[in-house]
Amino acid sequence: MAKGVAFFIFGGTGDLARKKLYPVMERLIKRGKLRKLVGLYALSRTEENIKEYVKGLDPALSEVFKFMPFDVTDRDHYHRLEKIIAELDGVELIFYLALPPQLFESAIVHTGSLLRHYMNPRKIVIEKPFGFDLESAKKLNFQLKRYFTEDEIYRIDHFLGKVAIQNLLSFRFSNYIFEGIWNKNFIDNVQISALESIGLEGRAGYYDRIGALRDMIQNHLFQMLSFLAMEPPAVIDAERVRDEKVKVLAAIRRIKDEEVDEYAVRGVYRGYREELGRESSTETFAAVKILIDNFRWEGVPFYLRTGKRLREKKTQIVVVFKDIPGNFSRLIGCKPAPNKLVFDIAPTNRVRFFFQTMPPQGFLGCSLERSMEMSIDDVFEGEPPEAYETLLEDIIEGDQTLFIREDEAELAWEIIDPIIKKWSYDNNVPLYDPGTEGPREADKMIWKDGREWILL
Ligand code: BG6
Repeated sequence: MAKGVAFFIFGGTGDLARKKLYPVMERLIKRGKLRKLVGLYALSRTEENIKEYVKGLDPALSEVFKFMPFDVTDRDHYHRLEKIIAELDGVELIFYLALPPQLFESAIVHTGSLLRHYMNPRKIVIEKPFGFDLESAKKLNFQLKRYFTEDEIYRIDHFLGKVAIQNLLSFRFSNYIFEGIWNKNFIDNVQISALESIGLEGRAGYYDRIGALRDMIQNHLFQMLSFLAMEPPAVIDAERVRDEKVKVLAAIRRIKDEEVDEYAVRGVYRGYREELGRESSTETFAAVKILIDNFRWEGVPFYLRTGKRLREKKTQIVVVFKDIPGNFSRLIGCKPAPNKLVFDIAPTNRVRFFFQTMPPQGFLGCSLERSMEMSIDDVFEGEPPEAYETLLEDIIEGDQTLFIREDEAELAWEIIDPIIKKWSYDNNVPLYDPGTEGPREADKMIWKDGREWILL
């Protein structure tokens, strides 16, 4: 048993730490889930009034909080870190890399090599995106494995901490009625939209290096896709659940270099470059069409899209069922809208089912669309837990089910690597107007298949 736990937050004065990690730690303390916190070290180059901020936190946090001026890339700074670790004999050490991906490798290598001299139990948490492409992700995995075992590595994706996303698995595997029709025989297509109304919000330095494809699709949207498409695991444990997600990623049809334009489109909102103050070919919108070549999903497209400065903040999954047979449509004189199962992830946590019902003028008229609704919030006493709260608790308890495994991270990059490559040498990014649902190119991509984007 460890004598206690100490957190080392790299990027400890940044946005993520202030807005998510520290507030969530407070909630964990209140719930008695973080009892043995003996140290909370914020490592960062700049202090940015963090001490003032910390004064307002729960005393259990502020009393063990220490700010350490720290340059992740400077080897000498790790001597200071080592001095602290030397005094934490028997304490579990949790290193949280709340950093942009270009700094991961330094932090991993330097921290890992100093830890060689210590026996403390340890965990390392790495934020997304896990690298920039397949090659850099492989390199990061290689470096991680030099110093840590896979069960000490927590590649985080905060979408997996969202209750509405975890509900995808409960909903699918606990409702025979849906799981029985969860396949190519009944489902026409699946749409995953993560629209945001915010723009850069002071994150220009990070965002312009990353873009929408790496920031959202490679991780958050692929995670939602995996939960939607995976087979039920034979056992609920971290390895078996992740095995099933990996199988889905492995079955995704690879996009050939010459096919990129058919499967992926991007855009940048008007005004982005002015906001940035320089030229850029970074995309603030990306849409991708995914095909899964397995028995369950053959021929069912999964359309994914995400972007900044769009009409509204809405994260939503729409499972679109097949049309009823054409002869019945002819009989009633119109084509009923297909059934839809909608998972609202943000701003509400809901499941809705859209179905057709009889119109007032009689049962052979054009049917009317109605919906049934279930709010996931209702199942919790009080507020549902925050995404980061669930995940931090899992890290403390050592449960890796909701974290990304080495092979999973690499497969997700492998799928989008051809798109990354094509876009990197083609600067021609279509523009879209803020407040819309993105560029026309995204509409054209789905229209070509005789379908349209649905947002309900
Ligand atoms: C982050 C991205 O991972 O997720 C941000 O870096 C994005 O660009 C955010 O805004 C969206 O998360 P949420 O939980 O607000 O939908």
